[in-house]
Amino acid sequence: MWASLRVLGIESTCDETAAAVVEADSMGRGKILSNCVLSQIAEHAAFGGVVPEIAARAHVEALDPLIRRALAEADCRVEDLDAIAAAAGPGLIGGVMVGLITGKAIALAAHKPFVAVNHLEAHALTARLTDNIEFPYLLLLVSGGHSQLVAVNGVGDYQRLGSTVDDAVGEAFDKAAKLLGLPYPGGPRVEQAALGGDPARFDFPRPMAARRNPDFSFSGLKTAVRQEAERIAPLTNTDVADLCASFQAAAVDVIVDRCRAALRLLADSPKAPTALVAAGGVAANGAIRRALGRFCAETGLRLALPPPGLCSDNGAMIAWAGLERFRLGLVDGMDFAARPRWPLDARQDPRWHGKA
Ligand code: KG4
Ligand code: ZN
Repeated sequence: MWASLRVLGIESTCDETAAAVVEADSMGRGKILSNCVLSQIAEHAAFGGVVPEIAARAHVEALDPLIRRALAEADCRVEDLDAIAAAAGPGLIGGVMVGLITGKAIALAAHKPFVAVNHLEAHALTARLTDNIEFPYLLLLVSGGHSQLVAVNGVGDYQRLGSTVDDAVGEAFDKAAKLLGLPYPGGPRVEQAALGGDPARFDFPRPMAARRNPDFSFSGLKTAVRQEAERIAPLTNTDVADLCASFQAAAVDVIVDRCRAALRLLADSPKAPTALVAAGGVAANGAIRRALGRFCAETGLRLALPPPGLCSDNGAMIAWAGLERFRLGLVDGMDFAARPRWPLDARQDPRWHGKA
């Protein structure tokens, strides 16, 4: 039995400025009291990707009013909070510093404990907020910066089973979109275009298929899309739809095949997972969600798919991860440095203790 807790979470590692207040009741069940997200897509669209300097400046401008709004919507004063959490990495260092310093400043001024949160850990724990999932589970983390399969055994206890050897899956969606003339961010555009396309028209490669280690690779798939697009250019709308559908079908197959490989690796482990949790912006993709549903029906795993708004970057996931850590007494000092790189399993690595 826990005491009920309230935590403010701040996210600023990439191109979303976000602040949220999350509460856990005495049974440990989570509830989102507010979740304010301000996307910077418009600021970056003209450049076809996130510009770090623009992102950092936009976070500075947006964060204070956004935190005020998150507190107001939660009907909560700073004094009512039990802890302040901020993402301390991994991500674009300028943006990370904005959120981290703001979180520390609020904690210091209000005499509240401070929790430095790993952005990836926040994605990893979101399903415990939305679906009350128990450890251990298998995490598929697919975003613009990461493609990973992780055995989640407890708070702070993560075993990375596989990751990408080149592009992240979201990056592959974004690059495929760009070379087909679709605007940034490409993932949702590719999904939309694929709805009217023929997934069997182009037989694109399924990189890493059937490999034992659950690693990902997407650069070969991206190159195949580019070569095919160049071969049949100029592209009609039907061509673009068919290219998107065929690309997405390949990406879906790769993701399911890699989940299967991860499950095989863990099959004989005493911590064999009973659930599959998807997280990261790409987990908003409908075709991927449906394919994971079929995979779990076949393998008997419980499937937890947080709603799309909680799969992409948000403040609630930071607040929740902060709450889970705070509940275990895991608080951080004011000397906790921003970490542009911060592997999920680094908490167990003694070289990462304290400052980095
Ligand atoms: O987790 P996220 O919001 O930010 C980080 O990268 O941390 O993920 C953003 C990524 C982008 O690459 C975007 O194109 C992709 O997620 N994405 C999608 C979809 N929605 C967002 N990819 C495929 N289908 C979608 N519906
Ligand atoms: Zn993310």
